[in-house]
Amino acid sequence: MSEQESFSVARLIAEAARVLSEAGVPEVRREAMSLVGYVVGRDRTFLIAHPETLLSVSDVLRLRELVERRAMGEPLQYITGHQEFYGLDFEVTPDVLIPRPETELLVETALELLGEEEMPQPVCDVGTGSGCIPIALLHERPLMRAVGLDISLRALSVAARNAERLGVRERITLIASDCFDALAGRRSRFTMIVSNPPYVAEDALAGLQREVRDYEPRVALTPGADGLSLIRRLLSDSPPILERGGHLLMEIGFDQNEAVRQLIDESMWQLLDIHKDLQGIPRTVALRKK
Ligand SMILES: C[S@@+](CC[C@H](N)C(=O)[O-])C[C@H]1O[C@@H](n2cnc3c(N)ncnc32)[C@H](O)[C@@H]1O
Repeated sequence: MSEQESFSVARLIAEAARVLSEAGVPEVRREAMSLVGYVVGRDRTFLIAHPETLLSVSDVLRLRELVERRAMGEPLQYITGHQEFYGLDFEVTPDVLIPRPETELLVETALELLGEEEMPQPVCDVGTGSGCIPIALLHERPLMRAVGLDISLRALSVAARNAERLGVRERITLIASDCFDALAGRRSRFTMIVSNPPYVAEDALAGLQREVRDYEPRVALTPGADGLSLIRRLLSDSPPILERGGHLLMEIGFDQNEAVRQLIDESMWQLLDIHKDLQGIPRTVALRKK
């Protein structure tokens, strides 16, 4: 085989898949194609249609470096800097959680409850991270406004860039805040509060996949102890800033269904449902303020 042939798209996908497979990475062919596509600036359709395309030496060296990073456990999305969520392309950096497919269920539930009517008050997202939840909502509801809160200033910068890129920057206010603390004295009032809070119990961190445990921000994964502290705060601190009949939607961990039910004060909240994700796991708690 000539040096040239070994630099073809087809050969390099095979080489990358082999390295990733030896490193125990799942779905190696898909990931190998993503990395090759990223380096050559082409999508999968192009790679499949033109397997004979040759890469330059510098692209091959760059690809091998990225494959090595992926083999060490770094998530593909932090390498490419992108993740799709609700049909939109989000920038992601190691300062934000990589948006997950199960969180799309929260967006869907929010859209159903919000209906199509124009809303007088904004929606508030606690722990906005990349901004994926409110930006997806604003994209679907062109007249809506949103407030995104996060304790991480670095995450808020990523959210601001995503809002700008996706054309909703004028309709979202991003505020550094520990839960709702920064809203004190602002007389804020919301139609809905949504949150995918950090909910992993501290002692469960060690058992997470290395891609998550070693690369995603700890502050995005766990609030410490039993993982429920931010959920408790959302339940107790939302009512005064939520309109009467307004909704609180929260994503919860795979094993938190019963514990969260116990935390709901029925004099304040009507539990509408705990929606199950595609794997049948109770994920999105939908509450209505009484
Ligand atoms: C699980 S991530 C969710 C990010 C994004 N909403 C998503 O669904 O992909 C939780 C986010 O909450 C933020 N966070 C953690 N503790 C917080 C707190 N006490 N107050 C506000 N935000 C917090 C983290 O910085 C992180 O961005």
